[in-house]
Order: sequence, then C-alpha cells, then structure tokens
Amino acid sequence: MPDSSHHHLKAWWAIAIAGALLACAYPLARAADANKEKASAKPLALRKIMQVLDKDMQTVSDGIARADWSVVARIAARITNHPQPPMGERMRILAFIGGDAGKFKEYDKQTKQAAHALEKFAIQGDKRAVISTFSTLQETCLACHQQFRASFQEHFYGRR
Ligand code: HEC
Repeated sequence: MPDSSHHHLKAWWAIAIAGALLACAYPLARAADANKEKASAKPLALRKIMQVLDKDMQTVSDGIARADWSVVARIAARITNHPQPPMGERMRILAFIGGDAGKFKEYDKQTKQAAHALEKFAIQGDKRAVISTFSTLQETCLACHQQFRASFQEHFYGRR
C-alpha cells in the first residue's frame, strides 16, 4: 500500500504558503485602494463654499473701490450667512479635527462677526470703518487657513 501521508503533507504546505501569501497581499491591496481613494478624492463641499467666499471677497473689494456701499452691504451679508457643508461632511470634518473643533468654530465665528460688522458700516456709508473691517475680515480667513488648511489637504486629499 503506497504511503499517502507524504502527499497530505505536500498539500498542507501548499495551503499554508498560499495563506501566507494572501495574508501579505491583502493589506498591500488595501493600502493601494486607500491611496487610490485619496488620489481621486471628491472635493469637500467645504471647498466649494470657500470658492464662493473668495469670489464674494473680490466683489466686496471691487465695491469698496467704487464706493458702492450697497454692493458691499449685500455681499457682506452673504459672507455672514455662508452655508455649512452637509451634515455627513460636517461629521467627517469634526471626526478629523477632534479636539480642535472649538478653535475651528471660533475662527468661523470671527469671520461671521467681521462680515456682519462690515455690512453694518457699509449701510452707514462709513468708508474708513468699511476699509479697516474688510482688512480684519481678511485676517480671519487667513487665521483659519494657517492653522487648518494644510492638514485638511493632507487628510482629505492625500497631499501636502
Ligand atoms: C473655520 C476655518 C476657515 C475660515 C474661517 C475660512 N476658511 Fe477658507 N478654507 C478652510 C479650509 C479647511 C480650506 C481647505 C478646504 C479644502 O481644500 O477642501 C479652505 C480653503 C479655502 C480656499 C481654497 C479653495 C480651493 O479651491 O482649494 C479659499 C479660496 C478660501 N478658503 C477662502 C476663504 C475666505 C475668502 C475666507 C474668509 C471670508 C475663508 N476662506 C475663511 C477653512 C476656513
């Protein structure tokens, strides 16, 4: 009678090796998928909101140059009431920034407060106050970017 235990042993090794290969290949494949996900990441709704803010700031700047206070007042109100990203995205953002959520919200509040003051001064036609408040408003944008923008880009889009 031929001894079959030898064959069993061979088969067992083949399975063990295949298993080990799979165990190595799986995380590699997952890592590749994760990279792909980032490389093709859909822009955040936040980015679109920011692009509108950017345009609005340019419109305000043009309005100031032309001393068109009604345009400045109207667009400042739009900046004050800028939309938020949808709930799901807000959750993703909050999960990412964690303990810095308070700071992030504080920056947004400062932007809104400056934009609101800008609207008020534009309605009053107070040119000096409009100009200095516009500059304060720009600083609030920059302050948040300085702290958060690079890390958002790295986290949500996978680049620095
Ligand atoms: C509370 C934080 C915060 C405030 C306040 C803020 N931003 Fe941003 N901004 C961000 C973050 C985070 C990004 C990166 C978003 C992204 O890349 O998806 C960004 C990106 C941008 C961009 C780049 C968009 C692009 O196409 O990549 C512009 C322009 C911009 N912001 C304009 C403004 C202006 C103008 C203001 C003030 C009126 C402002 N932001 C206020 C957080 C902020």
